[in-house]
Amino acid sequence: MAKNAERFVCQSCGALYRKWQGKCDSCNEWNSIVEEVPLTSVPKGLGGTKGRVIELVGLKGEAQAPSRWISGITEFDRACGGGLVPGSAVLIGGDPGIGKSTILLQAVASLATAGVSALYISGEEAVDQIRMRAERLGLSEAPLQLATETSVRDILTTLEQQRPDVVVIDSIQTMYVESLESAPGTVSQVRASAQELIRLAKTRGFSVILVGHVTKEGTIAGPKVLEHMVDTVLYFEGERGHHFRILRAVKNRFGPADEIGVFEMTDAGLAEVPNPSALFLSERDEDGGESVSGAAVFAGVEGTRPVLVEIQALVAPSAFSTPRRAVVGWDSARLHMVLAVLETRCGVSLAGRDVFLNVAGGLRIGEPAADLAVAAALLSSLGDRPVESGTVVFGEIGLGGEVRAVSQTDTRLKEAAKLGFHRAILPRARGRGRGSGESGIARQEIGRLHELVEVFEDGDS
Ligand code: TYD
Ligand code: MG
Repeated sequence: MAKNAERFVCQSCGALYRKWQGKCDSCNEWNSIVEEVPLTSVPKGLGGTKGRVIELVGLKGEAQAPSRWISGITEFDRACGGGLVPGSAVLIGGDPGIGKSTILLQAVASLATAGVSALYISGEEAVDQIRMRAERLGLSEAPLQLATETSVRDILTTLEQQRPDVVVIDSIQTMYVESLESAPGTVSQVRASAQELIRLAKTRGFSVILVGHVTKEGTIAGPKVLEHMVDTVLYFEGERGHHFRILRAVKNRFGPADEIGVFEMTDAGLAEVPNPSALFLSERDEDGGESVSGAAVFAGVEGTRPVLVEIQALVAPSAFSTPRRAVVGWDSARLHMVLAVLETRCGVSLAGRDVFLNVAGGLRIGEPAADLAVAAALLSSLGDRPVESGTVVFGEIGLGGEVRAVSQTDTRLKEAAKLGFHRAILPRARGRGRGSGESGIARQEIGRLHELVEVFEDGDS
């Protein structure tokens, strides 16, 4: 390798540079570039299967291990795509303090109790601290094995001796391999440590769960480099000040991506939330069910399950020459699009007004199907007319002002009916008679956005 090989690495995105520079060209991060000694050894292939060819049909007979380790914590298993796959690598990312260690301790303790041999390796906490946490979580009786270790070589030795089925590495940023000079947490250390652990997991057939802290920019530190190395990427999300947490699958080689598990942080750890809609709408009911303007209930779908959330908007006269647009829980570019379509296609004037949008409860919505609910909340706030109570809204808005059909209409309507809603504002169905209302919900179908504007002008809502 040339002396001057690229050895400056961006700690945020992993981009390589020949020289130090203040700003990373690839992710625009400042002061993230650090000199690192490049990997000298080429990663070894998987031992034992070198060059061997196996027939696809023959694989069926070879699989001895169970197809999934099920923890019994349904929300966790669901996010993993129905349990942990033996020999797979899972990355769990999230802000520090969000509850990654807690959920993993609960999950592996539950696995251990179910007879799966599990090992929890922490590089951040002492064994006594983990024990204390386990006691607090009521898990002190679980036949779980603990270790505190940060040297990957020592961990590999431990794993060869113990032969566990499931291993948690908490966190990958504390691990190091001795052949590298750079400090733990740097891209090269994180990458090399993960590579070694994943390689052993694939050869020995255990599942490895890597914990990765997210930097404030929302990428796992030493980060993107890990996402493509693992089979499954889960993010643990939640807002500080809100008690619920969401485990979201963003990549899964062995199951559906976009699946979510919902938890509530309690005094005794994370409790499963089997019915998230009720949780997200619970605050709304507390103020007596009074309808206020600027709020619309969106019937969304996260992964395979429906989730109802309230979208709140506030449209207020602006004191500034450039009005403000602030969004929490949704894509701000999409808000700008909805605002532009309202102005251009429907003649709704928003000039000189600040717009604030909030997804109540702190959930992050990615679905374009929320467009119509956002528009309803905006129009409701603008005209100070509450959305008729008991109404859910969903639909995607196109740039031409058309309301586009979205998937899983029936799932959304069924969930709405289950939670006591009786009316839905939704896209006009293309094929007639499709999914028609056995859910007992009155449908107000909308083909173009100006029809929604009329709903708020007529005053019947
Ligand atoms: P932790 O799992 O240590 O977070 P991470 O590993 O993602 O950094 O979670 C720490 C937070 O969780 C801390 O703020 C306290 C809170 N917590 C509870 O509210 N109840 C509990 O039973 C536990 C164990 C933690
Ligand atoms: Mg932790």
